[in-house]
Amino acid sequence: MNAISTTPLDQPTVMAGEKLAGKVALVTGGSRGIGAAICRSLASQGASVAAGYSGNTDRAEQFLKEFECDFPGQGASVHQGNVSNPEDCRRVVQEVLERHGRIDILVNNAGITMDKMAMKMSVEEWNTVLAVNLSGSFYMAQPVLEHMVERGTGRIIFVSSVIGETGNIGQANYAASKAGMLGLTKTLAKEAAFILARAGKLVDDGIGITVNTVTPGFVATEMLEAVPEKVLDKIRSQIPVGRLCRPEEIARVVHFLAADASAYITGQVWGVNGGLDM
Ligand code: CAA
Repeated sequence: MNAISTTPLDQPTVMAGEKLAGKVALVTGGSRGIGAAICRSLASQGASVAAGYSGNTDRAEQFLKEFECDFPGQGASVHQGNVSNPEDCRRVVQEVLERHGRIDILVNNAGITMDKMAMKMSVEEWNTVLAVNLSGSFYMAQPVLEHMVERGTGRIIFVSSVIGETGNIGQANYAASKAGMLGLTKTLAKEAAFILARAGKLVDDGIGITVNTVTPGFVATEMLEAVPEKVLDKIRSQIPVGRLCRPEEIARVVHFLAADASAYITGQVWGVNGGLDM
């Protein structure tokens, strides 16, 4: 383990605006890291939040307790489910609909790494990472999109990675999964607009359904703790702004894309990487 600090610096704990007032957001992997920052950022704009988590119930309950303390009365819930299991995804979506009545925003954030040089990577390491990061995003998006099409409005935001655009030593599975999310984003964006238009629900100044991706660079979360110190030093030296990203710097782009006023942005890839891909 290396010595990076994963202490959040700037967690919003107050209402900063109201542009998501009355909205319900479902964030996978929402109880920690980038996902928790996204939940807080959406809540700071007035959204109710349902956070998905896979295994760590204590952590999820702790997240919920802190969240309810910082955003009292704002309607928060946590939901256990493995995103690589399509039945779990459908169940979680159903739970959120029963609890909150609607889903306006889906953030597909849950993701894992199993880093290994490609020649040493097992079939299982390949499949597991693809199943969680890429298939999991699809399994969540499918039932949520059905619901959004019915209502005629919605926002889907994928949390991919700069690695999906640049590749990275030791990350064949992760890079492929994150690159796959870019194609998935653009396809769902086209299909959502097409289906709304065909149903006569594409209103000129309407909210519509948009699908976008954020591609974070190297963010100071637990995921980075597995990277050997000498490799992390190399990575840091390649980032033009000279430091790791803070989770909140990803989260603010997500809440911007989630707003009704972002209706004209769809099928796009938003890099937040300190200039790493230049
Ligand atoms: N960039 C540049 N050089 C790298 C590198 C990288 N990403 N990864 C490894 N190297 C270099 C090492 O510095 C080392 O170089 P030297 O021989 O000159 O010292 C060489 O490759 C071999 O590395 P290891 O000795 O570590 O070899 P290993 O077989 O024990 O492990 C590895 C290989 C599993 C790839 C390991 O190096 C590793 O974990 N690398 C980090 C991979 C990484 O960047 N993961 C990002 C996780 S965070 C994330 O994924 C979120 C996101 O979206 C950005």
